[in-house]
Amino acid sequence: MSLDKSAPKIKSMFGAIARRYDFLNHLLSLNIDKRWRKRTVQKVPPGDGPVLDVCTGTGDLALAYCRAGKKKIKVVGIDFCPEMLAIAQKKAQRAGAEAWLSLVEGDALHLPFDDGTFEIVCIGFGLRNVSDPAGALKEMLRVCRPGGRMAVLEFSQPRGRLTGPAYRFYFRRVLPRIGRLFSRDRFDAYNYLPRSVQEFPDGPGLAAMMRDAGMADVEFFPLFPLGAATLYVGRRPPGNTTQWSAEREKALAGT
Ligand SMILES: C[S@@+](CC[C@H](N)C(=O)[O-])C[C@H]1O[C@@H](n2cnc3c(N)ncnc32)[C@H](O)[C@@H]1O
Repeated sequence: MSLDKSAPKIKSMFGAIARRYDFLNHLLSLNIDKRWRKRTVQKVPPGDGPVLDVCTGTGDLALAYCRAGKKKIKVVGIDFCPEMLAIAQKKAQRAGAEAWLSLVEGDALHLPFDDGTFEIVCIGFGLRNVSDPAGALKEMLRVCRPGGRMAVLEFSQPRGRLTGPAYRFYFRRVLPRIGRLFSRDRFDAYNYLPRSVQEFPDGPGLAAMMRDAGMADVEFFPLFPLGAATLYVGRRPPGNTTQWSAEREKALAGT
């Protein structure tokens, strides 16, 4: 049976684990998740323009962008789960980043921003959870400036002869048990995690999905250790409107 990724299910699942999310992320990845977000910011560094972090959750990738700019740049984090955003808000306060980071409650499939608003649009460990990932990629492209860059950070599956089975044992057998022990959530989010990664395309498959959405110059970089996460980067082609935004304009005009 395929996973239920309906918006109400995903929202309640993240709502239920929000308070434990950061702690478990760092524990289960042995803090390597911090390094993955840092790498994302290094590969797709901010310039002068605004940055959008889609599915921002507790805001770690958005905050990494706030810290990285040579001068203070505007960063917006959007997520549809209020409990995750409440934690992001507290972290922004603690980091003294409230003036630069705006947190918005909203849907990745209907981003409440005009076409071409952002210089960088990123998403960290979020795309796999969205009910229509291709639709989310098209929305990311639409709100990115022509020539602007996109970064997708997502789990991937090591497939080496020895590393593959070792990774699968950890991810499918050990991780859900630790997750369940600490989060006690009724949605079994830490069983959902390995299953959602297993069902989602990675490497060339996800890169192809980004190209199909209209992104140009798509490349991907498996990350340490073993390529358990991969960073995908792309660009909105310089030029006029995307096919997607042209279609959207037509629909809005009722033609
Ligand atoms: C695994 S968390 C990732 C959080 C954060 N980006 C990180 O790096 O840790 C996935 C997030 O995606 C959000 N999400 C899933 N589908 C969404 C949608 N359609 N619109 C907005 N947020 C969504 C969830 O609420 C959750 O906070």
